Amino acid sequence: MPSKSLLQRLVKWCPWLLRDEPKRPVKVLVTGAAGQIGYAVVAMIARGLMLGADQPVVLHMLDLPRSRDALNGVRMELIDAALPLLRGVVATSDEAEAFDGVNVAILIGGSPRREGMERKDLIAKNVPIYKSQAAALQKHAAPNCKVLVVANPANTNALVLKEFAPAVPAKNISCLTRFDHNRALGQVAQKLNVHVGDVKNAIIWGNHSSTQLPDASHGTAWTERGERPVRELIADETWLREEFVRTVQQRGAAVIKARGQSSSLSAASATCDHMRDWILGTPKGTWVSMGVYSDGSYSVPDGLFYSFPVTCEKGEWSVVQGLQIDDFARSKMEASASELMEEKTIAYEFL
Ligand SMILES: NC(=O)c1ccc[n+]([C@@H]2O[C@H](COP(=O)([O-])OP(=O)(O)OC[C@H]3O[C@@H](n4cnc5c(N)ncnc54)[C@H](O)[C@@H]3O)[C@@H](O)[C@H]2O)c1
Repeated sequence: MPSKSLLQRLVKWCPWLLRDEPKRPVKVLVTGAAGQIGYAVVAMIARGLMLGADQPVVLHMLDLPRSRDALNGVRMELIDAALPLLRGVVATSDEAEAFDGVNVAILIGGSPRREGMERKDLIAKNVPIYKSQAAALQKHAAPNCKVLVVANPANTNALVLKEFAPAVPAKNISCLTRFDHNRALGQVAQKLNVHVGDVKNAIIWGNHSSTQLPDASHGTAWTERGERPVRELIADETWLREEFVRTVQQRGAAVIKARGQSSSLSAASATCDHMRDWILGTPKGTWVSMGVYSDGSYSVPDGLFYSFPVTCEKGEWSVVQGLQIDDFARSKMEASASELMEEKTIAYEFL
């Protein structure tokens, strides 16, 4: 053991000895990075909102060749923002380069739904994209890469990805329903006139589509009287089953009507929330919603990516078990599972 005076002298001569060993950068891929959500999310990731304020990142950004200039513009802005956590940027339209060694993959790129398009057409356009990206993921990403599919139809795109990347464990693939989850928390908070941070465990079951079930019946909120069930505080089953469900399901359309463009800031923020909680863990007693590969919990058929309430610890999610499901919720959960089975059948036609 060196003496105290020797240690003091060492620190005087070599002050860097007192500095913590810097963390190794994590490589994060964002596809569709030249698009609306991509543009918002890359800045959030590079500011530490996804992986933590002390976690350096290297951003890999993928977009189509026709978006090369726009993607380069995003790269230039990231440089101009002088972000201390950002240790490198790769901007490319080459899937192999984009997926090379990535630890986290956020898949936002996909073929958008155009006016008058049927769900079948949307699935048909996205199947080849996710088939190709599955091959790149399996071949080039780091082992244990965690994947979040944002692009719609998100649950079915995640399923296609899983089918064509058999070496990637299904538990490492997820799709985004945290966006709807956050919307649900926001609606309950507004109804109760409390801060959104005081509401928890309002959850989303099913597909990221209008058949999803936003379910506040297990939620709680902090009030002056302590933490109380949302059901007791709202005391209006009709609101919980009708207006609340409808508002969350149709929030996307309402934002488009108001803004003239689809949601991007809130989608990007939810994307960060999803990954942060998955990797760094959920606070004790708090559930979040994630679209994950069903293991048959709550009698949801196996083999679908379905939104469940989950908790996360040490980088692993687990479905919250034992919630009471009433007849109303059961019928809505089954309807959303049926829609996902239809989507799966359609997707298989194009595989
Ligand atoms: N799951 C959710 O909660 C949720 C929420 C909001 C939006 N979305 C979906 O996210 C997606 C992106 O939304 P947006 O508003 O950013 O759209 P956008 O059209 O602004 O951006 C999409 C980007 O993806 C790119 N792209 C298309 N095909 C690609 C491919 N094969 N590889 C790489 N990039 C590709 C496009 O060039 C474009 O830059 C849409 O599918 C949207 O429906 C999902």
